Amino acid sequence: MKSLARRTSALAQSDIRAISHLIRSTGGINLGQGICDMPTPAPIKAGAHAAIDEDCSIYSHYAGIEPLREAILEKAQRYNRIPATSPEEVVVSVGSTGAFVAAMLSLFDPGDEVILVEPYYGYHRNLLDLLGIGVRTVTTTLPDWAIDLDAIEAAVGPHTKAILVNTPGNPNGKVWTREELVSLVDILERHDLYALTDEIYEYMLYDGREHVSLAALPGAWDRTITISGFSKTYNMTGWRLGYAVGPERLVAPMGLVNDLIYICAPVPLQHGVAEAFAMDDGYFERMQADYARKRTMLCTALQDAGFGVPWPQGAYYVLADYAPLRTRHAGYDDDRQAAMSLVRDAGIGAVAGRSFFENPADGSHLLRFCFAKEFPVLEEACDRLRSAFAR
Ligand SMILES: Cc1ncc(COP(=O)(O)O)c(C=O)c1O
Repeated sequence: MKSLARRTSALAQSDIRAISHLIRSTGGINLGQGICDMPTPAPIKAGAHAAIDEDCSIYSHYAGIEPLREAILEKAQRYNRIPATSPEEVVVSVGSTGAFVAAMLSLFDPGDEVILVEPYYGYHRNLLDLLGIGVRTVTTTLPDWAIDLDAIEAAVGPHTKAILVNTPGNPNGKVWTREELVSLVDILERHDLYALTDEIYEYMLYDGREHVSLAALPGAWDRTITISGFSKTYNMTGWRLGYAVGPERLVAPMGLVNDLIYICAPVPLQHGVAEAFAMDDGYFERMQADYARKRTMLCTALQDAGFGVPWPQGAYYVLADYAPLRTRHAGYDDDRQAAMSLVRDAGIGAVAGRSFFENPADGSHLLRFCFAKEFPVLEEACDRLRSAFAR
């Protein structure tokens, strides 16, 4: 038979899924995959139930139902301080991933290049690859994953069209500072580049850090597509609802692409999530406080177990250095082996560090842990880590 499309030949099941599978079959605790197991807020569920009962069952406008686009616009103005003025500047899609795909298809031709900051979120890397878009990486390192703006500028080549900014970031919790973003705008302007931002963890910040949206800074709006979603903020990764905000020139074509590939986001669920905007700000404060406690629980347990732990600035992951374990335990020679050994020794799933780097060697001493778990589950995971590696 004839071969399948070349673009799929390099696709493989991600390490994250492989570990999740192993954990399921051994009854361990999965701190690998970035899924939150907390409940979706009741008003959102009630809104979706009502919409189903009222037969809101037909396609909506391809860019989303009007009340949801209005609510997102208002949130983008108020929380993100983005100078959007019209719901025409909002596209609701099938997760932030759907918005990202629509943005890529409407902005890039095969052969165009995007700058990615390492460690990166693997889906960004792999989706760019799938669509034939080139990637230029700029590495950040410990202790604080500071952005080397000279390195970003040096990475701009003749085919570079955009940079991707993920703040707060997965996998390392890096929160871009206002100063870093202001300097980035200079680079965007000097080299006539676009920016795509992924701000899905925008409400998860620690130690008083602020979330700054690039599009809010002078000079950035015209060239920035801001992408976010509901999966993480409202514990609803399976609902598949996200959105993009940007100037009409950039998001109107995205809407047309969104129409072609999805027609629209699931309509009863759009009605449900619209209810999120009526919830008071106390929701975010409670969520932040809970995640801050969870971060402390996991980071101290990992430290007690002997890991090197850079405490994340935002999001809900810890990219920890397991290399110190090597001297006392067998089976921790590289990150893939370490992820397997951790399931065996502690019944804990984590993600091999190589998934986040262009050169696997750069992540070979790292494992990513997710702390978006119910308190009792996380407590049990922390106990397991401490007792497996008690010194
Ligand atoms: C940085 C980042 N962006 C996007 C997503 C996926 O978001 P969505 O569920 O809205 O597609 C994830 C999920 O882990 C993520 O970590």
